[in-house]
Amino acid sequence: MKEYDFVVIGSGIAGLSFALKVAMHGSVAVMTKRKGSDTNTAWAQGGIACVTSDEDSFELHVRDTLEAGAGLCDEGVVRTIVTEGPERIRELTELGLQFDEREISGHRELDLGKEGGHSKRRVLHVRDVTGKQIENTLLRELGRQSHVQLLENHMAVDLITAAKLGFAAEDRCLGVYVLDEKTGEVETIRSDRIVLATGGCGKVYVYTTNPDVATGDGVAMAWRAGVEIANMEFIQFHPTCLFHPQAKSFLISEAVRGEGGILRNNRGEDFMQRYDLRGSLAPRDIVARAIDAEIKRSGAKCVFLDITHRSPEFIQERFPHIYQTCLRFGIDMSKQAIPVVPAAHYQCGGIKTDVNGVTSMPGLYAIGEVACTGLHGANRLASNSLLEGLVVTHRAAITAVRTRSASKQKIPLPEWKSGNVQDVDELVVIYHNWDEIRRLMWDYVGIVRTDKRLQRASARLRNLLREIREFYWNFKVSVDLLELRNLAAVAALIVDSALCRKESRGLHYTLDYPTAGDSRFERDTVLSRG
Ligand code: SIN
Repeated sequence: MKEYDFVVIGSGIAGLSFALKVAMHGSVAVMTKRKGSDTNTAWAQGGIACVTSDEDSFELHVRDTLEAGAGLCDEGVVRTIVTEGPERIRELTELGLQFDEREISGHRELDLGKEGGHSKRRVLHVRDVTGKQIENTLLRELGRQSHVQLLENHMAVDLITAAKLGFAAEDRCLGVYVLDEKTGEVETIRSDRIVLATGGCGKVYVYTTNPDVATGDGVAMAWRAGVEIANMEFIQFHPTCLFHPQAKSFLISEAVRGEGGILRNNRGEDFMQRYDLRGSLAPRDIVARAIDAEIKRSGAKCVFLDITHRSPEFIQERFPHIYQTCLRFGIDMSKQAIPVVPAAHYQCGGIKTDVNGVTSMPGLYAIGEVACTGLHGANRLASNSLLEGLVVTHRAAITAVRTRSASKQKIPLPEWKSGNVQDVDELVVIYHNWDEIRRLMWDYVGIVRTDKRLQRASARLRNLLREIREFYWNFKVSVDLLELRNLAAVAALIVDSALCRKESRGLHYTLDYPTAGDSRFERDTVLSRG
């Protein structure tokens, strides 16, 4: 059995920053189920929202965040994250990350982007590859740390808790079972400080801007361990994912609309003017619903994002990645509008934590997209998540370093038992279930919901969960099977949470209760097993 002072699961901005911050305080293992850079962070295009300009203020950033969050943000958490942001950004630049600058009347200043719901330009970015640059910077720094082991192709199976071992009175996290994909063996890892930084769950939907790794692993594991999960009904759909048969999950950043891009329907109309005074740059929930309505009304397959009025030089300089990717699919965005559709993008709920990443289970921390700190409320303000990842991680690292398990008793951890199991020869069943979940979530639990559709989804998911449980106990575990198991658990949490909210608020819009904001529901949806 291996033992570490800190075990971090996930290698995006939150996981890597945490590992770097605690590296001086003990042994650290960072587990990641594919390569280190296979993360949602690496795909982030827009950037990091942070107050850095004289024309902006913390008060305005707080106000914009609260407004987007539709009554469910925790104002104290919002203030902490907004005001501590600049210090965390400074640390990132000290590691060598250079945000884009521009020349203004003879001096250089940060080139700030604008996105939906922001009253000021405040998004720091590195062209349209901000996440990739952050990921590379952090991974490079991690490689210099002798106390930190990066374990790639290691997928966490389940948390080991005192309650599961019969010590319910002093429940806490004791370790984790981890599948080493290369050997096929499940290892037992002991640590009294386990950090979940596994990102979101976009793959629960058939259309998503997320990479394949986003299968809700952290939320599913925490749920099975009895940890509190909050606000899973609030799934953010990004309005503009490239619509092309061969383009899988390619995001067209909101920054394109921030630089003047206009959404048009198949008749070329700037239809957003009919839905919101802010037009194409209205908050995401409004834009995604408007596109959904427009597509349903016209029977068209997509709408179009038009930035052809900006010069080709500007487009290629500001959006090199988007420009080149579109070109590969035969679309020159400087000459023609980009076909786009909404797609699942961000999980605003997650494992319930405070602003220090502390969960309801001692010894377990959650940071980044997997966590629900209270920053996003019912709808995340664009580009607030990387900021949250930095600020909460910093605080979680301080807290974890100071907090050791008070218990003297070292509970023995049982080794993983695979028993007399066979290899999965029925891979087709896994893929079938995987497709069924993603399709039913898209059709029944998407941008516009009804109780009837949610109940239908719930009934189907119960059957699938039963079937998957049988596989899990009868077959040797594999990454595919574990991901399917997690995906199904998270899908059920989204549906159950959505069924609890009998109103429309932020990202949860239901035709049964279309009027926004019923004061009886101005609270988080918190679920925990048992
Ligand atoms: C984008 O670039 O549009 C995504 C930014 C975000 O989701 O925060």
